[in-house]
Amino acid sequence: MCGIVGAVSANNIVPILVQGLQRLEYRGYDSCGVAVHQGGELRRSRSTSRVAELRTMTEDDGVASGTGIAHTRWATHGAPAVHNAHPHFSRGQIALVHNGIIENHDELRDELKAKGYVFESQTDTEVIAHLVHHLYAGDLLEAVQGAVLRLRGAYAIAVFCRDEPGRVVGAREGSPLILGVGTESGTQADPTARYLASDAMALAGVTDRIVYLEEGDVVDLQLGKHWVLARDGERFKPTEREVKIVQAHSGAAELGPYRHYMQKEIFEQPRALADTLEGVEGITPELFGDGAYSVFKNVDRVLILACGTSSYSGMTAKYWLESIAKIPCSVEIASEYRYRDSVPDPRTLVVTISQSGETADTLAALKHARSLGMEHTLTICNVATSAMVRECKLAYITRAGVEVGVASTKAFSTQLAGLFLLTLALAQVRGHLTDEQEAQHLKAMRHLPVALQAVLALEPQVVAWAEAFARKENALFLGRGLHYPIALEGALKLKEISYIHAEAYPAGELKHGPLALVTAEMPVVTVAPNDALLEKLKSNLQEVRARGGELFVFADDDTKIESSPGLHVIRMPEHYGALSPILHVVPLQLLAYHTACARGTDVDKPRNLAKSVTVE
Ligand code: G6P
Repeated sequence: MCGIVGAVSANNIVPILVQGLQRLEYRGYDSCGVAVHQGGELRRSRSTSRVAELRTMTEDDGVASGTGIAHTRWATHGAPAVHNAHPHFSRGQIALVHNGIIENHDELRDELKAKGYVFESQTDTEVIAHLVHHLYAGDLLEAVQGAVLRLRGAYAIAVFCRDEPGRVVGAREGSPLILGVGTESGTQADPTARYLASDAMALAGVTDRIVYLEEGDVVDLQLGKHWVLARDGERFKPTEREVKIVQAHSGAAELGPYRHYMQKEIFEQPRALADTLEGVEGITPELFGDGAYSVFKNVDRVLILACGTSSYSGMTAKYWLESIAKIPCSVEIASEYRYRDSVPDPRTLVVTISQSGETADTLAALKHARSLGMEHTLTICNVATSAMVRECKLAYITRAGVEVGVASTKAFSTQLAGLFLLTLALAQVRGHLTDEQEAQHLKAMRHLPVALQAVLALEPQVVAWAEAFARKENALFLGRGLHYPIALEGALKLKEISYIHAEAYPAGELKHGPLALVTAEMPVVTVAPNDALLEKLKSNLQEVRARGGELFVFADDDTKIESSPGLHVIRMPEHYGALSPILHVVPLQLLAYHTACARGTDVDKPRNLAKSVTVE
């Protein structure tokens, strides 16, 4: 999704801006651009192609400057086209980039049009550029303060002015923005440099000195100095924000022997799980942060808030929490929860789950829960420096490493590991975990990396199935109990990257509707662990076969489900108990991946999707 990089430096910052965009590329975008102050005027290059093309354009055009801003755009208002790409200019004087959505853009556009401003794009961003221009009377900082007071919605902006070289002003509300302070080392080696970025990763290798701007902040960047102003109602007051040392990892990890990042990330899961569980010697609430024991003691229920794949790890956790920790749990899609009337209970542990820690709907749902008086908050998150971790009292940081593929894989399995630990910690505090049970669960968790290797070795068999799937336009996924969310995740993976329409159902629901869809043309993928529901599931398989449906079953070794005409079986290892979902999701990831490869789609950057959804 949209990314921002901006800088002032004594040196040319264009290579740093473009490199920053490249580091944010994995988040998904459909156009990109850079603008600088050069020769006393604004210059810009924009492209609907890749950032690599933008780099060539800037090099060919000799774009170079110590003041500039850059952006990757994921279209919301207006089609993905060059004239809608950021940076946007106003009357050759103001250049601006923006993440987020301005809700009152129509009203502001009408007002500015009446004042004679001409709009070249369909974006809400251009409205802000003209608004800053309209309010500009020689001081960019003042103009930006005035402009943001008029904005409703979410924004992170970076802006500079033709008349004030060496100055970039930023502001944020609802969308992340960080300030980087230059150092003697790093790619730029300029301690006077100041940077802005929507994510610290954009500045990896450039600076590790980061200020996390807070909601409503406006920041003024000049050579060798910066000021942060905190919003206080309709006014801004100078404030201090701590400079933190942050080791951001570059997103541009090597692909190694893999064709795509998604494949690499699927195969990284044994290591990601081992890293996530490293240092877990025993179960204790303190795994989730200081003070977790008293929080866990004071809650009677769990409310999980998440989006996309993260919501499916939450749905899986619900089964664990209710059966092992005996605590009632509800799981809500964040974008629904934030807007519905609900009945709050202050004795609720609110758990957000997020790979990025930046998803706008999940952050807003968390705020909504807090506004209803639910103060016990915990996040399972993959980015230690993210807004989600900063906003929650307690956290478990998954160590999946940077996930580049838009379709989440290793983040999901590590979330499950974090959620299982949470289940055990709550069970312990509530008196439902004996030492012996704790030891058994920990043993199974520690063995997961090895068990996953055995599942990954099934890849050649999955490739053979993928050839058949690539010719289909629809697929059904079935699972029961703990593995129903895994079926949902398998269907989501397939639709995200292969564009095959896929639906998941709890297998017992089949006869209440989806059975009508079953023909020889409808592949039915089934997750078949050897759990208490196996015999019920076998009956559901019969229902499909009786209607001529073709079954593709991932069956635990001890299920005794055998291949026969119309029933294809890939044998999983023996049943892995409560942690079985972590193993069963892997062949579904591989099936989606190889089907997408066979169809020739852009696996790592599927159409219309973004990695990190920072708008609502
Ligand atoms: C986007 C991504 C998904 C992800 C979802 C939630 O839609 O494409 O892969 O599951 O956002 O993201 P989060 O970072 O909050 O887990």
